[in-house]
Amino acid sequence: MPRSCGRVLALTALLAVLSTGAGAEQLPLVSGWRVHRGEATGAEAVAFDDKDWRPVTVPHDASIDDHADGTPPFDAQAVAGQDSGYLPGGQAWYRRHLVLDAAQAARVVRLTFEAVYMDADIWLNGQPVARHRYGYTAFSLDLTGKVRPGDNVIAVRVNHPDPSSRWYAGTGLIRPVSLDILDPVHLDPEGTAITTPMATAERGEVAVRSAVVNRSARAATVELLSQVVAADGTVVAQARRTLPVAAKAHADLDQPLVVDRPALWSPDAPNLYTLVLQVRVGGALKDERRTRFGIRTITVDARQGLRINGRKVVLKGGNIHHDNYMIGAAGLPDADARKVALMKAAGYNAIRSAHNPASQATLDAADALGMLVIDEAFDAWDKPKRAQDYARFFAQDWAADLDSLVVSGRNHPSVLFWSIGNEIPEQGTQQGAETGRRLAERVRRLDPTRPVTQAVSIDGPDNARQFAVLDVAGYNYRAHLFGPDHAQFPDRVMLTTESTPKDAFQYWRPVETMPWVIGDFVWTAVDYIGEAGIGWMGYSQDWQQLAPYPWTLAYCGEIDATGRKRPAAYYREVLWKTGIDPISAFVRQPPGTEDLPDRHYFPIQPPHLDWSLDDVHPSWTWPGQEGKPLEVVVYSEFPEVELFLNDRSLGRRPVGVDSEYKATFQVPYAPGRLVAVGYRDGQPAGRWELRTAGVPVQARLSLDRSMVRANGADLAYLTVELADADGTPVYARDADRLVTVRVAGAGALAGLGNGDPQDAGSFQADERRTFHGRVVAAVRAGTQAGAITVDVALPGLPPQRVTLNAVAP
Ligand code: GAL
Repeated sequence: MPRSCGRVLALTALLAVLSTGAGAEQLPLVSGWRVHRGEATGAEAVAFDDKDWRPVTVPHDASIDDHADGTPPFDAQAVAGQDSGYLPGGQAWYRRHLVLDAAQAARVVRLTFEAVYMDADIWLNGQPVARHRYGYTAFSLDLTGKVRPGDNVIAVRVNHPDPSSRWYAGTGLIRPVSLDILDPVHLDPEGTAITTPMATAERGEVAVRSAVVNRSARAATVELLSQVVAADGTVVAQARRTLPVAAKAHADLDQPLVVDRPALWSPDAPNLYTLVLQVRVGGALKDERRTRFGIRTITVDARQGLRINGRKVVLKGGNIHHDNYMIGAAGLPDADARKVALMKAAGYNAIRSAHNPASQATLDAADALGMLVIDEAFDAWDKPKRAQDYARFFAQDWAADLDSLVVSGRNHPSVLFWSIGNEIPEQGTQQGAETGRRLAERVRRLDPTRPVTQAVSIDGPDNARQFAVLDVAGYNYRAHLFGPDHAQFPDRVMLTTESTPKDAFQYWRPVETMPWVIGDFVWTAVDYIGEAGIGWMGYSQDWQQLAPYPWTLAYCGEIDATGRKRPAAYYREVLWKTGIDPISAFVRQPPGTEDLPDRHYFPIQPPHLDWSLDDVHPSWTWPGQEGKPLEVVVYSEFPEVELFLNDRSLGRRPVGVDSEYKATFQVPYAPGRLVAVGYRDGQPAGRWELRTAGVPVQARLSLDRSMVRANGADLAYLTVELADADGTPVYARDADRLVTVRVAGAGALAGLGNGDPQDAGSFQADERRTFHGRVVAAVRAGTQAGAITVDVALPGLPPQRVTLNAVAP
């Protein structure tokens, strides 16, 4: 394999830069990969010539990439069809060179994949070193003694046969890959377990379990220092222990620490500490590991519900899948974190990671922002839901995959419950209960501090058999059971693990009125690729036959795929009394003007949605409707609302629990300003305005950050929105425009999306049509510091440029 000298030097330099000076190095393997779609005979061999393969950075999703000729990846004939949003899986190969010096190659070397979708075979220097099948669990390979000084070649084959999933899963190295180079005496990277048995204003008890590994041929006397460091850098607790570790052995150690007057972690105040563990031998630092954690306790019971640090919390929850829309299933940390941030900003305090373990980036963001997480293991156990899904591997792999879920999630304060499964086909049977019991027991052995749940979608009496093996009963779409089931099982703690957006009120009422019902997780908070069209077509119809290509998105997300809140998100903010948008108003699509076609697939008269909230829009621009009555719905936390059209009152209405926090008005359409005013104690307390838009004359640009690190992974998101001369957003579909987004300099366009559920166009092309006046571009940092310029052009509008900086990481 020919390789240039320059490349070797660059990689060596990168290794040196990331040395921690603690005798241990950690190297994120972001760049340097090449990918090939399809089979590649002999590609595991060191000498294989991969120069025609495409250079990529990791995380990477091969299924979302355009074909070599630039055509989009969507395929009307895709085997997984509507499930995957018409995106095929298939095989993919990745290769990467790894240059180590003699000292590095002589040390302990671990290669960690956070997730590879799916069924990965891995070779080092032509030799098979591992097979890992589940597409969502992290795994590490011990390459000690197998790597050599100089050049090494890692080759990965992923085998994703369709249909493997009920949603879009992606293909390839979808989460980060990293390399640890360690001293023979080191901390087991998976051996740290932090629990906080007591968390009060006065006292935080931090129980640290860690494991020191000695892979040398000589016994070692090891000094282990454990420090709890507060956010401001102060060491608030520490313990030191000296212990002998025999040759080729490891020693587990429990170190109880106490933090006085701790800053507790909760969704409202996500205070974090860092546990710093240092290992020394003869005074020399051999390893250091930093683990962020929070001091908090979790308790649940049917009388007091869920309590965090002794205070009641109700779960304002949303389900999410792992894809990141315009970059597909590539789990770039900033993309995962953005979804968490969008949910937090919309008033959610909890996420269910459907139906697989959340990424570390998701959990890190949840820790930092104060989001609780139900971290879920599986969508299938022994019985498959799709011919090529995880059920093929469950019997052999479930224990290792479950261990991976718990070990990689247990130190995150955001993780609230472990979920062992979703709508498992064998739920409620003898076999289902038995498997559930085994899974729950295994989870509890590794983490006795968190309740175990499962999402169950059957009624009694069979559900009781399944719930009997769980700590918390997860109900999918079954609010009607909360009363009767409580009468029969008064100690059962219940929650809605999935609900429909259109029934938000019906699912939230029990949380407000029944102490044993601790929350509701809507399906879904953020829109996703796959299950195309469920938010439009009506789930109760024979929807498998519907949503033909080019439907690609589910379109049931309360936040659309680009991050824009849809009306359902505003309604939920009101229902949850978040105060974020305490009043908002939307307009029902006038009959006969539906802006999404395919109504003929859904022959219900009058047409209605079986999943999403009503077909209402944030728009007062309805040409052709002049003089006709339009239905305006106002969502309000205020007990009274008044609607005005062009300063003329259209009446005042009470709003509250009886009206499900909505007021509806019939308004003869006339262009202008529609204003909803909310009153509290008779006084105006909030308002919401919709204005008729003219033609788009400007594109408003907003960049979510002005600086990225030149690490090949950071993302900045640029939102482009059409506006008229007064700055009013232009929402109507017939005003949509083609936008060109060109990225140059020290970054690249990672994806350009519009959120249109029926747009099967390329995400990597630099042009895209707006959807309801908007596109969003993800801009990815390169590995060189410098300026990144983004040029935005729309026909007939003045061109614009924004600049951001990529700084050395
Ligand atoms: C549920 C399932 C989810 C999703 C949803 C909407 O039954 O658990 O994964 O498929 O239906 O179709």
